[in-house]
Formats: sequence, structure tokens, C-alpha cells
Amino acid sequence: MQNEFWHQMWASGVVGFHQPEVNPYLKNYWHKLLPSVDSDHAGEVLVPLSGKTLDMLWLKEQGHDILAVELSQKALDEFIAENELHRRYKIQDLEHERFCGYELEALRLFCGDFFHLTKEDCKDIVAVYDRAALVALPPEMRADYAKHLLEILPEKTPMLLIAMDYDQSLRNGPPFAVSEQEIHTLYGEHYQVEKVQEDKFERKGVETVESTYLLIPHSK
Ligand SMILES: C[S@@+](CC[C@H](N)C(=O)[O-])C[C@H]1O[C@@H](n2cnc3c(N)ncnc32)[C@H](O)[C@@H]1O
Repeated sequence: MQNEFWHQMWASGVVGFHQPEVNPYLKNYWHKLLPSVDSDHAGEVLVPLSGKTLDMLWLKEQGHDILAVELSQKALDEFIAENELHRRYKIQDLEHERFCGYELEALRLFCGDFFHLTKEDCKDIVAVYDRAALVALPPEMRADYAKHLLEILPEKTPMLLIAMDYDQSLRNGPPFAVSEQEIHTLYGEHYQVEKVQEDKFERKGVETVESTYLLIPHSK
């Protein structure tokens, strides 16, 4: 049901969450998350529920490999076509038992359900970038999402998380409202949660707060 919602949205061609430019909070705070990274060996970043975000290309420019997971094949095809990646890179079909998708230089684009990702898939991950992934999920799925993420990530993997909060009784999601308290509940046992930015604006008539969090593993 939930997956069908997203497939229909991609089929309609109206994807309001997609940003035409690289996310400014990513650019501002990524280096705070991984301060001593060597751009020659920056490691692989997990981008869950990736859509066709340009943020993946920015992360790649910083020297990272990318593991993206996205339900919609159309999203991944548009990512490749709109950025003309086929002109620059040799694109191969992904060989994987649970996902279709593509592999191209430094990018693994997994098409399928995030909940099918395993620890083996994520063994080289050094950081997670979650923009509009947690907030894409209804309340009953978010605890499962966070639990699954923690199960498959290597120990002490930091995360940059961008979330929205608003009065959920005034509007339906997605994006769903996710409070700072909920982020502490989901991740506080494993991470120190630092809110580094908070922006308030009106979205479709509802006062909304967009917050950027650095999740730093305890004792890192
Ligand atoms: C709100 S969009 C955010 C996309 C991207 N992170 C961005 O910032 O543009 C959520 C995306 O997650 C995908 N999605 C939803 N549920 C998923 C799941 N269980 N596994 C993989 N992708 C999923 C949807 O198709 C959609 O592209």
C-alpha cells in the first residue's frame, strides 16, 4: 500500500520533494559530520530512500562512493538520464539477489525496498545521509526503519538527518511530522543527537520547522 503510493507518485511525474539544487544543509554540515575524511578514501555513504537527489552527486564529488536505495526504477532512470550519467560512465545492471538497479563508477543504485537491505550490503558504509527518508514514512513504520538501519550499519556510523516537524493534526503526510523528541527516542540510545540548524517557514498554510541533526555515535 505504502509502496504503491510512491510508485504512483513517480508515475504521475509530480515529485514535489525533489530539489533542483544540492541541499544547502548537506553542503554546510557534512564536513562537520566527517571532519577528518580523506577525499581519496572517503568511504561509502548510504542514501536511503534516495529518489533522484542531486545530493548523491555532491557526495560523490567529495570523494564518497554511494549506496542508494530507492523503490522506484523510474526515479533511478531519471537520475541517470537527467544528469547524463550514461555519457560519463559505463552503466551496468546491478547483479544482486534482492535488488535490481545499476552500478556505475562509485555509485551503486539499488532499486527495491529499503527493508531488504542487509548488513552485508552495508559493510563498507561510513556515514548515512537521510534527507526526507525518515519523514517519508508513517509513524508505524519509523521505528522499524530506525531499527533496521541500526541493525545493518557497521557500528558507530554517523548520520546527517534532515527532518520536518509541524502539527500533524492540521495536515497529512508525507512528509510526516517528526519531532526532535522522536529522533531522540529512535536513535538516542546509540547516538548523541545534535541539532545544528532549525528553520521555520509556512508550508501549505501550516507552520513548519525543518531541522538538521548530526547523529554522532556514542563514544566516537
Ligand atoms: C520524500 S522522497 C525523498 C527522496 C530523496 N531522499 C530526496 O531528498 O529527494 C522518499 C523516497 O523514498 C522512496 N521510498 C519510499 N519507501 C521506500 C522503501 N521502503 N524503500 C526504498 N525507497 C522507498 C520513494 O519512492 C521516494 O522516492
